[in-house]
Amino acid sequence: MGTTNHHHHHHHHQPTTFPIKKLITGALYTLLPLALLHVYLFPISLKQPKLITSTQSQKTSSPSIPSSLAAGEGVEHRHSPRSPRCDYSDGRWVPDSRGPRYNGTSCSTIKDGQNCMAHGRPDTGYLYWRWQPNHCQLPAFDPVSFLHLIQNKHLAFVGDSMARNQLESLLCLLSAASPPELVYRDGQENKFRRWVFHGYNATVSIFWCPFLVKGIEKSAAPGLNHNKLYLDSADDRWASELDRMDMVVFSVGHWFLHPAIYYENELVLGCHHCPELNHTEIGFFDVFRKAFKTTLKVVSSQDWSSPASSEKLVVVTTFSPAHFEGEWDKFGACPKKKPYKEGEKGMEYMDAEMRKIEVEEVEAAASKGAAKSGGRLRIEALDVTKLALLRPDGHPGPYMYPNPFADGIKEKVQNDCVHWCLPGPIDTWNEILLEMIKRWK
Ligand SMILES: *[C@@H]1O[C@H](CO)[C@@H](O)[C@H](O)[C@H]1NC(C)=O
Ligand SMILES: *[C@@H]1O[C@H](CO)[C@@H](O)[C@H](O)[C@H]1NC(C)=O
Ligand SMILES: *[C@@H]1O[C@H](CO)[C@@H](O)[C@H](O)[C@H]1NC(C)=O
Repeated sequence: MGTTNHHHHHHHHQPTTFPIKKLITGALYTLLPLALLHVYLFPISLKQPKLITSTQSQKTSSPSIPSSLAAGEGVEHRHSPRSPRCDYSDGRWVPDSRGPRYNGTSCSTIKDGQNCMAHGRPDTGYLYWRWQPNHCQLPAFDPVSFLHLIQNKHLAFVGDSMARNQLESLLCLLSAASPPELVYRDGQENKFRRWVFHGYNATVSIFWCPFLVKGIEKSAAPGLNHNKLYLDSADDRWASELDRMDMVVFSVGHWFLHPAIYYENELVLGCHHCPELNHTEIGFFDVFRKAFKTTLKVVSSQDWSSPASSEKLVVVTTFSPAHFEGEWDKFGACPKKKPYKEGEKGMEYMDAEMRKIEVEEVEAAASKGAAKSGGRLRIEALDVTKLALLRPDGHPGPYMYPNPFADGIKEKVQNDCVHWCLPGPIDTWNEILLEMIKRWK
């Protein structure tokens, strides 16, 4: 473990104890050494929050879920011409005796660190919940319908390990109907992969692009202490393939919390968590917004004049909050065994802000993109932030490693309270994705 990090993680306050002013920016998040966890991301906060006063507006609103999400919903409705459609982000988790569609035995593509059952997680209650939207029904995942919808098409997931988590959930859900064949792999740790479902000529792929824009990960070179992000250029690794994607799911966020230097027009715009450098600390919220602006602009600016340019669906999966309750490396870092009930858990300022930026940028790009493409481009948010927030029970925790307590309970144990067990809550993201694709077709 590094010695310079402040091992004080991000506490989740109950609404009543929530500090009134939340004018923090990303300046208070830093990262543990990545090598420790192989999970690619690990947000924690500094002990001494650095308050940034410049552009942050004083936020005094209640942190309760309904009000914070209501603000976002207002945005969606105002801009949405396709009005009466279900808002899947508004709902609650209800008990469900059906249980999961797959397990680590029936699905062979689950990443080790997320195969909670195989790693000996003893409780299974977290598998028996389904999401109940408040104003409609969310049908159970139907793999055959999904495969029909992506027949002769390419569905790409682009982003970080949360994108990968969602992709692996989808592969498991689909493999109940048809086994995927891995036809391409490249990069360390399976960062770029492609599968084909042969009966359907359907392609599903994953692209490791944790910033969406061009970036250099600090792990790329020894001595690099900061990621470098070039906010005005899309990451070519996905952008160069865009023409061959019919559906794209972007899912990023946690990597923006890492220390970084930001460039725009080849000049340093500022940095995040870089006290040793002579750059201005600008946090990561504006940067996150710029990354989405650049990304969605590239998506919209394909040549739509040709009648042959096919229709495209672009989905942004919104930010998925972490659930650390104690030290990340102590026993019981995310010990909950049940979802939160409505109103039981307020959304942290950062989580709400990340989601809001994504929803706003999607809405802004959606109308422009639809106009530019003559209706052939659809851009939508897969708004899972609240669904995710309410599922502290769905993470691998110590079961990111096999049988962590085989030799008894240990005080020190690494925990993943960010990603989701497979099967687990993230399967619901794909149930919603299926409804979005149905609506699009
Ligand atoms: C896993 O799924 C398979 C196929 O659905 C089933 O036969 C098996 O009993 C399941 N195993 C566990 C441990 O649930
Ligand atoms: C198979 O799917 C690809 C897209 O992934 C498409 O370009 C191709 O035309 C499809 N083949 C047939 C025979 O439809
Ligand atoms: C840091 O930047 C300021 C303003 O550009 C400059 O005046 C100062 O000399 C720089 N300090 C160092 C140590 O480079």
